[in-house]
Amino acid sequence: MRPLVVGNCSQIVTMQGPQRARVGPEMSEIGLIHDAAMVVRDGKVEAVGPRDEIEWLAPSDAEYHDAGGRLVTPGLVDAHTHLVFGGDRLDDFEARSQGKTYAEIATAGGGIWRTVAATRPLSTEDLASQAAKHFDLLRRHGTTVAESKTGYALDRDGELRSLRALQTLRPRVVPTLLAAHAYPKDQDPQAYLDMVCDELVPLAARAGLARDVDIFVEEGYFSHEDAERLAMAARAHGLGLRMHVDQLADSGGAGLAARLGARTADHLEHTGADGIAALAEAGVTPVLLPGSVWGLGLSRYPLGREMVDAGLPVVLATDFNPGSSPVPSLLFCMALACRLMRMTPAECLTAVTVNAAATLGLETSHGALMPGMAADFVVWEAEDYRELAFWPDVARPANNPIVANESCPSEP
Ligand code: NIG
Ligand code: FE
Repeated sequence: MRPLVVGNCSQIVTMQGPQRARVGPEMSEIGLIHDAAMVVRDGKVEAVGPRDEIEWLAPSDAEYHDAGGRLVTPGLVDAHTHLVFGGDRLDDFEARSQGKTYAEIATAGGGIWRTVAATRPLSTEDLASQAAKHFDLLRRHGTTVAESKTGYALDRDGELRSLRALQTLRPRVVPTLLAAHAYPKDQDPQAYLDMVCDELVPLAARAGLARDVDIFVEEGYFSHEDAERLAMAARAHGLGLRMHVDQLADSGGAGLAARLGARTADHLEHTGADGIAALAEAGVTPVLLPGSVWGLGLSRYPLGREMVDAGLPVVLATDFNPGSSPVPSLLFCMALACRLMRMTPAECLTAVTVNAAATLGLETSHGALMPGMAADFVVWEAEDYRELAFWPDVARPANNPIVANESCPSEP
C-alpha cells in the first residue's frame, strides 16, 4: 500500500506527553502541533510534526490527503459500552419523563430485565448484527476502538452467544463478560452466581472470549460479597475486573474496587473523598460516564475535577446502552465533563484517548499518534481541539474516521 501523507492540518493532537497515561496539572501536555502533517506507512504513524518539516520529507510515491485546514486527533477510544442487546426501552424513557425513577421502573418489570426479554431470543448472528449496528453509531462520532460488555441475556448460553457476537467486531471491540449485570428473574440467585463463577468465567477465559469481567454492585443487584466471589474467579482464570459501582448511591463501591484490585471502577457518581483516595492508593482507574447521568435526568455527576487533582488517570466513556445512556458520542460526554465536572478540554481529550486505551491494554498502539502506533485518526469539522467539547454536534468527523490500520488492537 502506498504511504499516505495527511497534510494541511490546523492542529494535530498527538497526545504525546511526559506521562501519557495520566491527566492532572502536569498533563495539560497533549502534544499539540499547529499547522501540522503526518506520514502513515503500513497502517502505522511514521512521522508527525509541523507541516514545513514533514511534508517535504514525505516519500515521493505517497498519496496526499489534504485535511483542508482541519483538526486531526487519534481515533477516540470508548472504554465502557453495552453494544449487545435487542429491543428498546422507550417505555422506560416515557415513564421517567413522567417522574418515575430508574429503581421504580426496574421494580415494576422494566429496566435491565425488559432488555433481557428482548435479547434472549436472538441468535448469535442477530446479536452480532445488533452489536455491529451500535458500534457503527459510535464510529460515526469518531470512536475507532471500544470495549463492550455482555449482560442482557443473563443465562449461560445467551451470555456465551453475546460474547461470540462480540468476537465478530474484533479487533475494534474488546469484549467484557458482564453476566453479573442483574440476577435473572427465573433462576435462584445463588445458583446463577455459582454458574457465572464456576462455568462462564472459566469458559470465557479458556476460549479467549473476554479480556475482563464486570459486575453491577448496587442495592437490588449484586452485593460486595458477590463481587468478592467474582473477583476471585476472574483472578483464578487470568481475567481482569471492571466494576459498576456507586452509581445510584454510595455503597463504598470505590473502596471495594480498590480492595479487589480492579482494573477500573466505573460510574462513581456518589463516590466521595474517601473513595477517591482509595482508588488513588490502589491504582484503580476511574471510568466516568456523564452520559448516563444525563440520560437518566439526574444531576449528580462524578467528581471528575477532584479525581484529576488526586492524580488519577480519569477516563470518560459513553456507557452506550438501551436504558440509562442512549449516547454514542464521546464528544457529548466531553461537553458534559467540561461544564458539569470541571474538567478542561485537554483533560477530557486525554480521558477519551490515552487513558481509555490503557484500560484496554492498548497503550502502545492506540489513543495517541506517535511513530510506530496505529494510524487510527479522525479529521474533524473543527480547527481547534477545544471545539470538540465546545460544540460536539458541529465538530463531527469530516468523513468516517480514517483508519489506515484495519488489523489493530492486540488479542486480549
Ligand atoms: O451502566 N448500571 C448498570 N448498567 C447500565 C445500565 C443498564 C440498563 O439500564 O440497561 C449502566 O448504566
Ligand atoms: Fe454500564
